[in-house]
Amino acid sequence: MPSKLIIHGGFFSESGTNHEIRTAKQQALKDIATKAHGFLLKHTAVETVAYAVSLLESCELFNAGLGSQIQSDGKIRMSASLMDGLTQKFSGVINIEDVEHPIHVAKKLMEFEDSVLGGPCATSFAREHGFDYFYAEIPQRRKEFQEKLEKTRTGTVGCVALDGEGRLAAATSTGGKGFEMPGRISDSATVAGNYANRFAAVSCTGVGEDIVSGALAAKIVTRTTDGLSLREAMERSFGELKPFDGFAGAIAISANGDIWHQDSHPYMVWASFDSEVNVFD
Ligand code: GLY
Repeated sequence: MPSKLIIHGGFFSESGTNHEIRTAKQQALKDIATKAHGFLLKHTAVETVAYAVSLLESCELFNAGLGSQIQSDGKIRMSASLMDGLTQKFSGVINIEDVEHPIHVAKKLMEFEDSVLGGPCATSFAREHGFDYFYAEIPQRRKEFQEKLEKTRTGTVGCVALDGEGRLAAATSTGGKGFEMPGRISDSATVAGNYANRFAAVSCTGVGEDIVSGALAAKIVTRTTDGLSLREAMERSFGELKPFDGFAGAIAISANGDIWHQDSHPYMVWASFDSEVNVFD
């Protein structure tokens, strides 16, 4: 089975219009997809999705880890999850603070029966397990916060991988939508935003509330499991977002090696590594 993966870098509207940002994101996604594919050749799908998402969290062009959006009370709270398609174990952190890699904390939780933690308890768990304090704010986000941009600028990161043994996995990480009410729960650490089984794996980006209303990732995986092609499952599930103008994007791989990405509104940024690296244009 050839190993393959697809990553996304969220859904920023300026990516479609600002040439500099667009080019920087293309290059970053290309580099990360290539590096993660090299990793996938020697590691499992679930190890690889966590690795790829940690690289995306370290890149301040994207809204996850370093460079996360700031909430309405001036604090950064991040959410991340991953799911192993083989074991169907899901783990995640919701509204964690001051860690460099929320996805690594989520991966640590895979070892525990209680595998999704939220708020200060998620941060305490991270400290207890050796995750040091990390300041995730960058000046650009503070500027946006101070200007109180009302426009929704949702950006999340994610990776879906199929390894050489045919195992699928998905991982997703976000800094949220920006200016949200403290305590608001993103889709990224729920089965609506991140889901995998033996048939398909999906990571979503966009407005968390819309993704949860559309049960998007779990629905696409279920439809693929029931026999639809990945493309049909994506198209039908995205069609069901239309009545409420749901704002979402998703990346996915199915067990037979199909790769697909779709968005309800333009400018989701993504890259894949199939037999070669491909990037949004
Ligand atoms: N999809 C990211 C968020 O809404 O928090």
